[in-house]
Amino acid sequence: MIFILKNPSLGINIKQLHFGWNSQTPVLNGCDLAVPEGEFWMLLGDNGCGKSTLLRLIGGILSPDQGTIDINNPLGFVFQNPDHQLVMPTVAADIAFGLVEEKLTLPEVKVRVKEALMAVNLLDLERRPIYALSGGQKQRIAIAGAIARHCKVLLLDEPTALLDPDTQIELVALVQKIVKERGITALWVTHRLEELAYADGYFLLDKGKVIKKGKPQDLFPQLLRETNIKDTMEKWR
Ligand SMILES: Nc1ncnc2c1ncn2[C@@H]1O[C@H](COP(=O)(O)OP(=O)(O)OP(=O)(O)O)[C@@H](O)[C@H]1O
Ligand SMILES: [Mg+2]
Repeated sequence: MIFILKNPSLGINIKQLHFGWNSQTPVLNGCDLAVPEGEFWMLLGDNGCGKSTLLRLIGGILSPDQGTIDINNPLGFVFQNPDHQLVMPTVAADIAFGLVEEKLTLPEVKVRVKEALMAVNLLDLERRPIYALSGGQKQRIAIAGAIARHCKVLLLDEPTALLDPDTQIELVALVQKIVKERGITALWVTHRLEELAYADGYFLLDKGKVIKKGKPQDLFPQLLRETNIKDTMEKWR
């Protein structure tokens, strides 16, 4: 059973979440996770530990077996592969398509589309066919779709996995800026640890639970010992 317990200072509040694709092997096993409103947090963990499953549960694409999910609405979701979510022939049409349920007038839709494209610095691509966009531009259009719907929570599942390093850092910096300017609460799944430099906090998922959370800076001494993150960060900051 799901109980909704509203906590106004949290954009995402997950309590004791249980989920399994079958009853023998739980993916989430009493998972707690809370993101303060207006903050940008990252979700880390090994392949197959359940990060995408957790994001889908938070996004309402899956239903939990037990536990509570309390999030601010509306919600935006950005997938690893933008070709799975951009469905219309052109940039403006795709963003407008996401607004169909809002029953806006045509001028209102046009304002929303322009506002969203300005937020992702792609106003000049309004009429561009989707097939003629780069991978990074497609991800920015997917984010623009969420902004046009005035989303309060943004879930991003490895949005930089298919991008080159330059475009990757541009995207994470852009999302950080958008989150701060608009007071959006964002949860970003990644394996790319250099992206942590842009986050307010991180969660580490393991065996169905968040086993560690904190400020990215707290992780850096350990990461400096174990990875080449120092070189990467010095290159980009
Ligand atoms: N549609 C599905 N049906 C059955 N099992 C699934 C399904 N999707 C995922 N799983 C299983 O659930 C577990 C968690 O998968 P999930 O995709 O959430 O992991 P992840 O942490 O996102 O991994 P990655 O880092 O590789 O993206 C895995 O054991 C996976 O095989
Ligand atoms: Mg995944």
